[in-house]
Amino acid sequence: MLIPVSRCLRTVKALEYAKQMKANKQNEVTKRAVIASVNTRSLTNKWSDLSSKLFWEKRYANSMHADFDWLVDGDTIVSHIWQEIQSMKHISKSHLDILDLGCGFSNVSKRLLQLSDEPIHYVCLDFASEALAFQKQSLTSLGLGCNHRNSFGSFIVGDCRHLPFKKNTFDVVLDKGTTDSVMKHKTDGLKFAESTVIEGLRALKHSGILVQITDEEPDCRSLFLESVFRNNGMQFDIKYRFVCDDFGIEKNIFFIRNKKPS
Ligand SMILES: C[S@@+](CC[C@H](N)C(=O)[O-])C[C@H]1O[C@@H](n2cnc3c(N)ncnc32)[C@H](O)[C@@H]1O
Repeated sequence: MLIPVSRCLRTVKALEYAKQMKANKQNEVTKRAVIASVNTRSLTNKWSDLSSKLFWEKRYANSMHADFDWLVDGDTIVSHIWQEIQSMKHISKSHLDILDLGCGFSNVSKRLLQLSDEPIHYVCLDFASEALAFQKQSLTSLGLGCNHRNSFGSFIVGDCRHLPFKKNTFDVVLDKGTTDSVMKHKTDGLKFAESTVIEGLRALKHSGILVQITDEEPDCRSLFLESVFRNNGMQFDIKYRFVCDDFGIEKNIFFIRNKKPS
Protein backbone atom coordinates (compact mmCIF):
# COMPACT_ATOMS: atom_id res chain seq x y z
CA MET A 1 0.00 0.00 0.00
CA LEU A 2 1.37 3.39 -0.92
CA ILE A 3 0.78 6.28 1.46
CA PRO A 4 1.61 9.72 0.08
CA VAL A 5 4.62 11.22 1.87
CA SER A 6 2.70 14.41 2.62
CA ARG A 7 0.10 12.40 4.52
CA CYS A 8 2.76 10.50 6.46
CA LEU A 9 4.50 13.72 7.43
CA ARG A 10 1.20 15.17 8.54
CA THR A 11 0.53 12.03 10.57
CA VAL A 12 3.85 12.10 12.41
CA LYS A 13 3.65 15.83 13.00
CA ALA A 14 0.11 15.56 14.30
CA LEU A 15 1.09 12.66 16.53
CA GLU A 16 3.93 14.69 17.99
CA TYR A 17 1.62 17.62 18.46
CA ALA A 18 -0.84 15.41 20.33
CA LYS A 19 1.94 14.12 22.61
CA GLN A 20 3.19 17.61 23.25
CA MET A 21 -0.27 18.66 24.29
CA LYS A 22 -0.46 15.73 26.66
CA ALA A 23 2.80 16.82 28.24
CA ASN A 24 1.53 20.37 28.59
CA LYS A 25 -1.74 19.15 30.12
CA GLN A 26 -3.70 21.22 27.66
CA ASN A 27 -7.36 20.92 26.85
CA GLU A 28 -8.36 17.25 26.90
CA VAL A 29 -11.14 17.61 24.32
CA THR A 30 -8.88 19.26 21.74
CA LYS A 31 -6.22 16.59 22.29
CA ARG A 32 -8.74 13.80 21.58
CA ALA A 33 -9.85 15.56 18.41
CA VAL A 34 -6.25 15.75 17.13
CA ILE A 35 -5.59 12.07 17.83
CA ALA A 36 -8.87 11.07 16.16
CA SER A 37 -8.05 13.09 13.07
CA VAL A 38 -4.56 11.50 12.90
CA ASN A 39 -6.07 8.05 12.98
CA THR A 40 -8.78 8.64 10.39
CA ARG A 41 -6.33 10.26 8.01
CA SER A 42 -3.62 7.62 8.29
CA LEU A 43 -5.72 4.49 7.98
CA THR A 44 -8.11 3.10 5.45
CA ASN A 45 -10.96 0.69 6.12
CA LYS A 46 -9.82 -1.54 3.27
CA TRP A 47 -6.57 -2.53 4.95
CA SER A 48 -7.63 -2.46 8.58
CA ASP A 49 -8.29 -6.23 8.53
CA LEU A 50 -4.53 -6.78 8.53
CA SER A 51 -4.44 -5.88 12.23
CA SER A 52 -7.16 -8.38 13.13
CA LYS A 53 -6.40 -11.77 14.66
CA LEU A 54 -9.56 -13.23 13.11
CA PHE A 55 -8.46 -12.13 9.64
CA TRP A 56 -5.13 -13.96 9.97
CA GLU A 57 -6.65 -17.06 11.55
CA LYS A 58 -9.10 -17.35 8.66
CA ARG A 59 -6.39 -16.69 6.10
CA TYR A 60 -4.07 -19.33 7.56
CA ALA A 61 -6.89 -21.89 7.87
CA ASN A 62 -7.02 -21.80 4.06
CA SER A 63 -4.25 -24.07 2.76
CA MET A 64 -3.97 -21.91 -0.38
CA HIS A 65 -1.93 -19.49 1.68
CA ALA A 66 0.50 -22.09 3.01
CA ASP A 67 4.16 -21.37 2.55
CA PHE A 68 3.54 -17.74 1.61
CA ASP A 69 6.12 -15.07 2.37
CA TRP A 70 4.78 -11.55 2.79
CA LEU A 71 6.43 -8.69 0.82
CA VAL A 72 9.67 -10.50 -0.05
CA ASP A 73 10.72 -14.17 -0.24
CA GLY A 74 12.78 -15.78 2.49
CA ASP A 75 15.96 -16.26 0.42
CA THR A 76 16.13 -12.57 -0.45
CA ILE A 77 15.72 -11.55 3.18
CA VAL A 78 18.35 -14.01 4.34
CA SER A 79 20.77 -12.60 1.76
CA HIS A 80 20.17 -9.11 3.20
CA ILE A 81 20.65 -10.08 6.87
CA TRP A 82 23.36 -12.69 6.39
CA GLN A 83 26.21 -10.25 6.91
CA GLU A 84 24.66 -8.98 10.16
CA ILE A 85 24.25 -12.54 11.40
CA GLN A 86 27.86 -13.38 10.54
CA SER A 87 29.14 -10.29 12.36
CA MET A 88 27.36 -11.41 15.53
CA LYS A 89 29.20 -14.72 15.73
CA HIS A 90 31.86 -13.35 18.03
CA ILE A 91 29.23 -11.80 20.35
CA SER A 92 27.15 -14.89 21.03
CA LYS A 93 28.48 -17.27 23.66
CA SER A 94 26.75 -20.47 22.59
CA HIS A 95 24.14 -19.64 19.98
CA LEU A 96 22.33 -16.71 18.36
CA ASP A 97 18.85 -15.91 19.67
CA ILE A 98 16.53 -14.75 16.89
CA LEU A 99 12.92 -13.66 17.35
CA ASP A 100 10.58 -13.66 14.34
CA LEU A 101 7.83 -11.22 15.32
CA GLY A 102 4.60 -12.18 13.54
CA CYS A 103 6.31 -15.08 11.76
CA GLY A 104 3.25 -16.12 9.75
CA PHE A 105 4.05 -18.74 7.10
CA SER A 106 7.33 -17.13 6.15
CA ASN A 107 10.22 -19.42 5.30
CA VAL A 108 12.96 -17.06 6.54
CA SER A 109 13.20 -19.39 9.57
CA LYS A 110 13.84 -22.49 7.48
CA ARG A 111 16.26 -20.80 5.07
CA LEU A 112 18.31 -19.35 7.91
CA LEU A 113 18.61 -22.65 9.77
CA GLN A 114 19.55 -24.41 6.54
CA LEU A 115 22.34 -21.93 5.92
CA SER A 116 23.80 -21.01 9.28
CA ASP A 117 26.87 -22.87 10.50
CA GLU A 118 26.35 -21.00 13.78
CA PRO A 119 23.79 -22.60 16.15
CA ILE A 120 20.57 -20.59 16.24
CA HIS A 121 17.68 -20.60 18.67
CA TYR A 122 14.90 -19.39 16.37
CA VAL A 123 11.79 -18.19 18.22
CA CYS A 124 8.62 -17.87 16.15
CA LEU A 125 5.89 -15.67 17.64
CA ASP A 126 2.46 -14.95 16.22
CA PHE A 127 -1.06 -14.43 17.58
CA ALA A 128 -2.42 -16.90 15.01
CA SER A 129 -1.78 -20.44 16.25
CA GLU A 130 -2.05 -21.82 12.67
CA ALA A 131 1.12 -19.93 11.79
CA LEU A 132 2.98 -21.58 14.66
CA ALA A 133 1.70 -25.03 13.72
CA PHE A 134 3.06 -24.39 10.23
CA GLN A 135 6.44 -23.18 11.50
CA LYS A 136 6.74 -26.11 13.91
CA GLN A 137 6.06 -28.58 11.14
CA SER A 138 8.40 -26.78 8.75
CA LEU A 139 11.34 -26.65 11.18
CA THR A 140 10.74 -30.16 12.53
CA SER A 141 10.75 -31.54 8.99
CA LEU A 142 14.06 -29.78 8.49
CA GLY A 143 15.53 -32.12 11.12
CA LEU A 144 19.03 -33.00 10.06
CA GLY A 145 18.71 -30.41 7.30
CA CYS A 146 19.75 -27.74 9.80
CA ASN A 147 23.28 -26.70 9.01
CA HIS A 148 24.15 -26.84 12.71
CA ARG A 149 22.94 -29.76 14.81
CA ASN A 150 22.42 -27.53 17.85
CA SER A 151 20.02 -25.17 16.07
CA PHE A 152 16.44 -25.38 17.27
CA GLY A 153 13.09 -23.58 17.18
CA SER A 154 10.48 -22.44 19.73
CA PHE A 155 6.88 -21.59 18.86
CA ILE A 156 4.98 -19.07 20.94
CA VAL A 157 1.43 -17.82 20.62
CA GLY A 158 1.65 -14.21 21.73
CA ASP A 159 0.98 -10.57 20.99
CA CYS A 160 3.82 -8.50 19.55
CA ARG A 161 2.57 -5.47 21.53
CA HIS A 162 3.22 -7.24 24.86
CA LEU A 163 6.05 -9.68 24.44
CA PRO A 164 6.42 -12.56 26.90
CA PHE A 165 10.23 -12.17 27.07
CA LYS A 166 12.67 -10.54 29.47
CA LYS A 167 14.58 -7.53 28.26
CA ASN A 168 17.97 -8.17 26.69
CA THR A 169 17.09 -11.59 25.25
CA PHE A 170 17.60 -11.56 21.47
CA ASP A 171 20.49 -10.85 19.11
CA VAL A 172 18.10 -10.26 16.23
CA VAL A 173 14.42 -9.31 16.23
CA LEU A 174 12.92 -9.73 12.78
CA ASP A 175 9.73 -7.88 11.87
CA LYS A 176 8.71 -8.68 8.31
CA GLY A 177 5.47 -6.85 7.61
CA THR A 178 4.20 -7.08 11.18
CA THR A 179 4.50 -3.43 12.22
CA ASP A 180 2.91 -2.66 8.84
CA SER A 181 -0.02 -4.88 9.83
CA VAL A 182 -0.66 -3.58 13.35
CA MET A 183 -0.40 -0.01 11.99
CA LYS A 184 -3.49 -0.66 9.88
CA HIS A 185 -5.80 -0.80 12.92
CA LYS A 186 -8.70 1.59 12.33
CA THR A 187 -8.42 3.67 15.50
CA ASP A 188 -5.20 2.71 17.31
CA GLY A 189 -2.79 1.81 14.53
CA LEU A 190 -0.02 4.22 15.46
CA LYS A 191 -0.26 3.34 19.14
CA PHE A 192 -0.07 -0.40 18.36
CA ALA A 193 2.85 0.11 15.97
CA GLU A 194 4.67 2.13 18.64
CA SER A 195 4.12 -0.65 21.22
CA THR A 196 5.41 -3.24 18.73
CA VAL A 197 8.62 -1.27 18.13
CA ILE A 198 9.17 -0.56 21.84
CA GLU A 199 8.58 -4.20 22.79
CA GLY A 200 10.89 -5.47 20.04
CA LEU A 201 13.65 -3.15 21.25
CA ARG A 202 13.08 -4.07 24.88
CA ALA A 203 13.56 -7.75 24.06
CA LEU A 204 16.75 -6.94 22.12
CA LYS A 205 20.27 -7.30 23.57
CA HIS A 206 22.28 -4.03 23.69
CA SER A 207 24.42 -5.29 20.84
CA GLY A 208 21.39 -6.62 18.94
CA ILE A 209 19.58 -5.45 15.85
CA LEU A 210 15.92 -4.92 15.05
CA VAL A 211 15.25 -5.67 11.38
CA GLN A 212 12.07 -4.36 9.81
CA ILE A 213 10.95 -5.17 6.28
CA THR A 214 8.24 -2.85 5.04
CA ASP A 215 6.46 -1.49 1.98
CA GLU A 216 5.86 1.79 3.76
CA GLU A 217 7.53 4.79 2.15
CA PRO A 218 11.03 4.93 3.79
CA ASP A 219 10.93 8.63 4.81
CA CYS A 220 7.61 7.97 6.40
CA ARG A 221 8.86 4.91 8.34
CA SER A 222 12.01 6.80 9.42
CA LEU A 223 9.92 9.70 10.75
CA PHE A 224 7.66 7.31 12.60
CA LEU A 225 10.63 5.51 14.21
CA GLU A 226 12.35 8.78 15.13
CA SER A 227 9.20 10.05 16.79
CA VAL A 228 8.87 6.80 18.78
CA PHE A 229 12.49 7.12 19.98
CA ARG A 230 12.13 10.81 20.81
CA ASN A 231 8.88 10.33 22.70
CA ASN A 232 10.32 7.48 24.74
CA GLY A 233 13.79 8.89 25.38
CA MET A 234 15.47 6.12 23.34
CA GLN A 235 18.67 6.39 21.34
CA PHE A 236 18.72 4.15 18.30
CA ASP A 237 20.36 4.44 14.95
CA ILE A 238 18.26 3.84 11.82
CA LYS A 239 19.60 2.67 8.48
CA TYR A 240 17.67 1.29 5.57
CA ARG A 241 18.26 -0.04 2.11
CA PHE A 242 16.16 -0.83 -0.92
CA VAL A 243 15.26 -4.50 -1.41
CA CYS A 244 12.98 -4.65 -4.46
CA ASP A 245 10.13 -3.01 -6.30
CA ASP A 246 6.96 -4.86 -7.28
CA PHE A 247 4.63 -3.01 -9.61
CA GLY A 248 5.87 0.34 -8.32
CA ILE A 249 5.69 -0.62 -4.63
CA GLU A 250 9.11 -0.41 -3.00
CA LYS A 251 10.15 -2.85 -0.29
CA ASN A 252 12.87 -1.65 2.06
CA ILE A 253 14.79 -3.25 4.90
CA PHE A 254 15.47 -1.23 8.06
CA PHE A 255 18.31 -1.95 10.50
CA ILE A 256 17.80 -0.42 13.93
CA ARG A 257 20.56 -0.59 16.53
CA ASN A 258 21.49 0.89 19.85
CA LYS A 259 23.56 4.05 19.41
CA LYS A 260 25.72 3.02 22.36
CA PRO A 261 25.93 -0.78 22.43
CA SER A 262 27.57 -1.88 25.67
C1 LIG B 1 1.91 -9.24 7.07
S1 LIG B 1 1.95 -10.76 7.92
C2 LIG B 1 3.68 -11.15 7.84
C3 LIG B 1 3.93 -12.62 8.10
C4 LIG B 1 5.40 -13.03 7.96
N1 LIG B 1 6.28 -12.23 8.80
C5 LIG B 1 5.86 -12.98 6.51
O1 LIG B 1 6.78 -12.19 6.22
O2 LIG B 1 5.33 -13.73 5.69
C6 LIG B 1 1.77 -10.21 9.60
C7 LIG B 1 1.83 -11.32 10.61
O3 LIG B 1 1.79 -10.74 11.91
C8 LIG B 1 0.85 -11.42 12.71
N2 LIG B 1 0.32 -10.42 13.64
C9 LIG B 1 -0.39 -9.31 13.36
N3 LIG B 1 -0.66 -8.62 14.47
C10 LIG B 1 -0.09 -9.30 15.49
C11 LIG B 1 -0.03 -9.10 16.89
N4 LIG B 1 -0.61 -8.05 17.48
N5 LIG B 1 0.66 -10.00 17.64
C12 LIG B 1 1.25 -11.08 17.06
N6 LIG B 1 1.20 -11.34 15.74
C13 LIG B 1 0.53 -10.46 14.97
C14 LIG B 1 -0.19 -12.00 11.75
O4 LIG B 1 -0.84 -13.13 12.26
C15 LIG B 1 0.68 -12.31 10.54
O5 LIG B 1 1.20 -13.61 10.60
